[in-house]
Amino acid sequence: MRSSDQAAQGPQNVARWTWLLAGVVVVSALHYVTPPAHFVLHAIYQRLYYVPVILAAYWFGVRGGLVAAIVCSIAYAPHIHTAWSHNPPYTVSQYAELIVFLSLGLSVGLIASHERRVTNRHRETAESLERANRELRESGEQLRRAERLSALGEVAAGLAHEIRNPLAGMKGALEIVSSRAAVGTPEAEFCAIATRELHRLEGLVQEFLDYARPRPPRLRPADLPEVIRRVVSLLGPQADGAGVALAVEGEDASQGLRIDPEQIEQVLVNIVLNAVQASPRGGRVTLRHRRQGGRYLIEVADQGPGIPPDARARIFEPFFTTKDRGTGLGLAISQRIIAAHQGEIRIPPRKGGGTTVEILLPLPSTAALQSQP
Ligand SMILES: Nc1ncnc2c1ncn2[C@@H]1O[C@H](COP(=O)(O)OP(=O)(O)O)[C@@H](O)[C@H]1O
Ligand SMILES: [Mg+2]
Repeated sequence: MRSSDQAAQGPQNVARWTWLLAGVVVVSALHYVTPPAHFVLHAIYQRLYYVPVILAAYWFGVRGGLVAAIVCSIAYAPHIHTAWSHNPPYTVSQYAELIVFLSLGLSVGLIASHERRVTNRHRETAESLERANRELRESGEQLRRAERLSALGEVAAGLAHEIRNPLAGMKGALEIVSSRAAVGTPEAEFCAIATRELHRLEGLVQEFLDYARPRPPRLRPADLPEVIRRVVSLLGPQADGAGVALAVEGEDASQGLRIDPEQIEQVLVNIVLNAVQASPRGGRVTLRHRRQGGRYLIEVADQGPGIPPDARARIFEPFFTTKDRGTGLGLAISQRIIAAHQGEIRIPPRKGGGTTVEILLPLPSTAALQSQP
């Protein structure tokens, strides 16, 4: 049963038991106030007890039916004793009536429980069919999207490959020209701009190639804090330029972690860079890392605007970007690398702004560690 159903059931059950109790009280009151001489009325009242017993059994199963039968018996028995003790055969038949209450509670309860089980089974089957149907539809959509993207990735990779050689040529030529430009002249400044843009193009081309031609990770024991230090020193100048502070918190408990350090560095560079780009001037990006259960958790938290709900579903899609100069490949590449590490990357929704990206990497079990040479 779903929890919302369960929450709604509580008050409903209280109301039902109240009605049942009220019914028993009314029927009993009728017995006690009607003089025994009204024989026919008593014969009717006594059968009115069937109503709460049947209803209780129908609503609450065997246990409810038996409880109601016992309550009715307790309410009715003193009346049998006081009103009919002068007529022993009739008294016996009335006590036998109490057995009818119990049998009624038991049998209706059994039927109701059985019916409920069958209905629940049908509902579960219908729900699981609906779930399977939905999953099938979603995976079909995912497949179509993956096909589209892989075709796009192939074209991008082909182009990137073609662009790499002329880029190298331009870089060489630019180095010669800039070595001849006198310091402080406009020519030297143009050369600096061109060099910066060339670096950017090189980075883009590399990102496209990384996306389209991923290599499997070479997993080995590695010093994760050292990887994090490298990321911080690599991005330090960029963070300084944006007025963002980079902080690292975490004890080194990553022994046993097997990763591809270059790939994890690439992932962290992507994620920390996103965090820096999203941060306001004067903001802070914090990298935390620690053991969490059987996994190692690395968190990157920023104080930026957070990810809008409509973008949230798409940020891991390749080529999805909200930036003028973004490629939309950083998170797609990161997710693929982490998946190849058998890990998980997730961005839990955060109230009150800011984004926290969580990377979870598997740690070998203690038994596996001890058997390692
Ligand atoms: N820390 C963050 N805060 C807010 N938005 C983010 C953050 N990280 C990623 N995003 C969103 O996810 C999109 C995709 O990121 P990414 O794949 O790295 O591509 P890119 O950085 O080239 O846009 C970004 O354009 C941005 O909209
Ligand atoms: Mg990015």
